[in-house]
Amino acid sequence: MKTRRQFVKSVSTVTAAIGCGIGIAGLLQGCAAIRYVDGEIEEDQIRINKSEFIEQQFVVVTSKQLPAPIYLVKSKEEKEYGAYLMRCTHLGCELRPTGSFLTCTCHGSEFSNKGNVLQGPAAESLTTFEVIVGEQEVIIELNKIKKS
Ligand code: FES
Repeated sequence: MKTRRQFVKSVSTVTAAIGCGIGIAGLLQGCAAIRYVDGEIEEDQIRINKSEFIEQQFVVVTSKQLPAPIYLVKSKEEKEYGAYLMRCTHLGCELRPTGSFLTCTCHGSEFSNKGNVLQGPAAESLTTFEVIVGEQEVIIELNKIKKS
């Protein structure tokens, strides 16, 4: 039997997928590759079940309480995860994930999957949160910002 939290998370993920289906046909391919997960913030943490990463290298964690979504990406070795605020450090536009990097549609900045600037005009790395990797879940520590 699912707990309330598990039920809410699974419903949120499905809803995001349906939302992509309403868009223009040309956008469907892009939507299918991006998995959106509704993040529930408790005690300055967001817990994401590792099952969200089945066949996914990254997920986009959303919450109305966040200033922008969080890009949660796992390394190819699947032992390390990184959590980056998807807000451009140039003028604050929301970033779009491509899978191998993040791009800003406002003025063209690009950021690596480790939050580093690949192309300006942005000059600073993305806000990076510490993560704790457990057996079943990845915990994003919202009050612990990593310095780069
Ligand atoms: Fe992203 Fe300007 S706000 S490049």
